[in-house]
Amino acid sequence: MKTINELLGAMTAVQKVRQMSQFSINFYQSEIQTELTGPLLGFTPDDELRFSAGSIIGILSAEMMREVLEKYNQKNSDGIPAVVMADVIHGYRTIFPIPLAMRCSWNCEDVELACRIAAIEASACGIHVTFAPMADLVRDPRWGRVMESTGEDPYLNGKFAEAAVRGFQNGDVAAPDSLASCVKHFAGYGAPEAGREYNTVDMSEGVLREFYLSGYQKAIEAGCELVMTAFNTVDRVPATCNSWLLETLLRSELGFDGVVISDWNSIDELIAHGVAQNGSAAALKALRAGVDIDMMSGHYFKYLDENSVRTEALVDHLNESVARVLRLKERLGLFHAPLKGLDAHRAETLLLCAEHREAARKVAEDSIVLLENDGILPIHESKTIGIFGSLAETDRLLGNWSCEGKNEECVTLRRAFEGRRCKLLGQVDSTDPGVRDDQAVACDVAIVVTGEDQDTTGESTSRTSLELPEQDIDLVKELRRKGIPTIVVVHSGRPLMLERVSGIANGLVQAWFLGSESGNALADLLLGRISPQGRLTMTFPRNVGQIPIYYNAYKTGRPKQNEDDSYRYVSKYIDCSNSPLYPFGYGLLYTEMDYSGLKLSKKHLRGDEILKISVTVCNIGTREGTETVQLYIRDEICSVVRPVMELKAFQKVNLEAGQKQTIDFWLTAKDLAFYAGQEGWITEEGSFTVMVGSDVAHTLKEEFFWEE
Ligand code: GLC
Repeated sequence: MKTINELLGAMTAVQKVRQMSQFSINFYQSEIQTELTGPLLGFTPDDELRFSAGSIIGILSAEMMREVLEKYNQKNSDGIPAVVMADVIHGYRTIFPIPLAMRCSWNCEDVELACRIAAIEASACGIHVTFAPMADLVRDPRWGRVMESTGEDPYLNGKFAEAAVRGFQNGDVAAPDSLASCVKHFAGYGAPEAGREYNTVDMSEGVLREFYLSGYQKAIEAGCELVMTAFNTVDRVPATCNSWLLETLLRSELGFDGVVISDWNSIDELIAHGVAQNGSAAALKALRAGVDIDMMSGHYFKYLDENSVRTEALVDHLNESVARVLRLKERLGLFHAPLKGLDAHRAETLLLCAEHREAARKVAEDSIVLLENDGILPIHESKTIGIFGSLAETDRLLGNWSCEGKNEECVTLRRAFEGRRCKLLGQVDSTDPGVRDDQAVACDVAIVVTGEDQDTTGESTSRTSLELPEQDIDLVKELRRKGIPTIVVVHSGRPLMLERVSGIANGLVQAWFLGSESGNALADLLLGRISPQGRLTMTFPRNVGQIPIYYNAYKTGRPKQNEDDSYRYVSKYIDCSNSPLYPFGYGLLYTEMDYSGLKLSKKHLRGDEILKISVTVCNIGTREGTETVQLYIRDEICSVVRPVMELKAFQKVNLEAGQKQTIDFWLTAKDLAFYAGQEGWITEEGSFTVMVGSDVAHTLKEEFFWEE
C-alpha cells in the first residue's frame, strides 16, 4: 500500500477536498430524508461526491450499511475507503443510563464498560467513529444537553472522559470491535448564556482552563482520535474558525495531532455569527484555523478549489488536513478492511444480548440517586404498591441519544414489579380522580412517577421552567393528605425543581433515564434487592432563580457566613436561601456512614512532599452500603480567587453493617495548583484546608501549610 505522502502526492485538489467533506447517511439512502441531528441544508451532493466524500455520518442496520459501503467502494474512483461516524453516546441497541446518570455512579469502570459494549454493538453495524464523550462542563440545568455531560466538576469530567475513551477505543482503534472516539464540543459549549441552546459563551481564559478544559484534555491524553468544534464562540471568535483555540491551545499546547471535525454545519454558521461574508470566506477561515472535516455544510467541497487555497496561502493547511484524515483511516485499518467490524451475524448475536442487558442493569442500579427517605424505602414485600403519575407506565426511558435503542425494548417499572414478589395494584388512569381515589386507598405505598419526557432533553431543548408537572405535584399532595406513604420517582435528563415535593414525599428517587434496564434496576432498588449508591455530580437548585449554582464557586468579597446570617450586606437573595436543594456529591444509602479520625501525615508541607490524608468510615446502620468518600481542598490564600471547594479524589468502599475501614488519600503540590496565566499552572505558598466527607455539605476538615 502507498504511504500517506505517496497517496497525498497523487491526489488532485478536488480529491483532497472530498476527503474533508462529510455527509449524512440520508444522502445514501434515498428513502430516508429526515433531519438527522441538525438542519438538512440546501446542498445535495451529486453521485460523484457522495461516493468519494471522505466520511459518512449516520446509523443503519448492518445489512443496510453493508449495502451503502459496498456501493460506495464500487463507485469510488479515488480508491480511498469512507469512514463512518455516528453519535454512539450511551449505548447502541442496548442502552445504558444517560451520561449524567452514569456519572452519578462515581464508577469509572461502569462508564468504561458501557462504552465498551456500545463499541462492540456499533462496530458490528459498520460504525468506525463515535462522537463521544461529550466533555462539556455544565452548571445550568436549563440547557438540555446536561444529560450528555458529567456535570459541574473538572476532576470528574476528566476521569470519566478518560474512561469513555478507554471503553470505546479499547487500546486498538483498528480492532473490529472498537470505535475511535471524538471528544466534543471544543470548547466550552456547556456554558451558553441563560442556558439557551447555541447561545453566546463568554468566560475568561482562566475559567476556561481551570474548569472547562479538563474533560477534553484528559480525553486527548487517553488517545482520542478526533476533536469536534463547538457551535459557540470562545472570546468572541466562533470555535470553528478560532486559530488560538484550535492551533495554539489544542494542537501546540495540548499536543493533539488527530482530526478536527466541525459540528453539524458550523462552518456555514460562521456567516450567521457575522464573521464570514459567505460560504467561501467561511470555508477558508475554518481551514486556516485547522478544521480538517466539514460536517454537512458542503462549503469545503464547494469553495476550497486550487485558486482560493493558493491565493490564501493555505496549500499547506489543506495538505496537513487531508493527511490527518488519511492517517485516521490508516490507523483504523480501513485501507485493508474498508468494512472493518461490519458483521450482520455478530450484530444479530450481540445487540441487546442478555450479557449486555445485565451490564446495563448493573450500571443503571449504580446510577440511581436516593434523595429522601423517611424509612419508607426499601418497600417491604408485604406492602401493596400503587403506581401513579404522568410517567407511571412510560417506556420512554432511554434518553435522547439512543441510537438503535427501542422504547418497546425498555423494561418498565410495572413490568419489573410484575416479575418480582410484591403486591401490585393494576394500572390506573391517574388523571381520573374517581379511579385514582379507589386505587390510592387500596395501596399501602403509592409510587408517583414523574419528571420530563426523554425528548424534552438533549440538543435544542432548553427550558425556562424546570418544575414537575403540576398534576403530579397535586397528586403527591393529595396522597399525602390521605395519609398514604408516597415515594416520588423522577425521570429526567437534568436537575428538575423538586422542592415542592421534597418536603412532603416520604421517599424521593432521582431515576434519570436509565436505559434498556430501567424498570429492573429501579424495582430492585425500591424493593431493597440492591442498595442505592448514586451521588449527584450536578447541583440540584431550589428554583430556577438560583441558576447557575454549583459547589466550586468563588468566595466573593461579601460571603454569606451561614444560613442564619441575616446581615444585609452579604451575597444573598432576600427571597431564597443560597444553598441548593441537594448539593454536589449528595446521595442517601439504605444505611448510614459515620466519618471520624481525619488525620494528615503533616501539618506543614514543603516542595514535592506527599501529604497523606486518612479518615475512618464506619457503617453505623443496619444494612451493607457503598459509600463514596470524597476528598476536597480549599486554597485559603492565593494571588487569584480560588473555589470554596475543589474535588481532588474519591474512593468507593462497600461496608457491611457495623464494619469500618480507614480510607487513605494522597496529595502533592501539583494537586494544589491553579492557572496563573503566563506562568502556567503553579502552587503558591499558603494554608490549605482538606475536607473529607459524603458530600460538599458534610465533611470533616483539617488545615495544612504548603511552602516551596
Ligand atoms: C449535533 C451535535 C453533535 C453531534 C453532531 C452530529 O448538532 O451538536 O453533538 O455529534 O451534530 O450528529
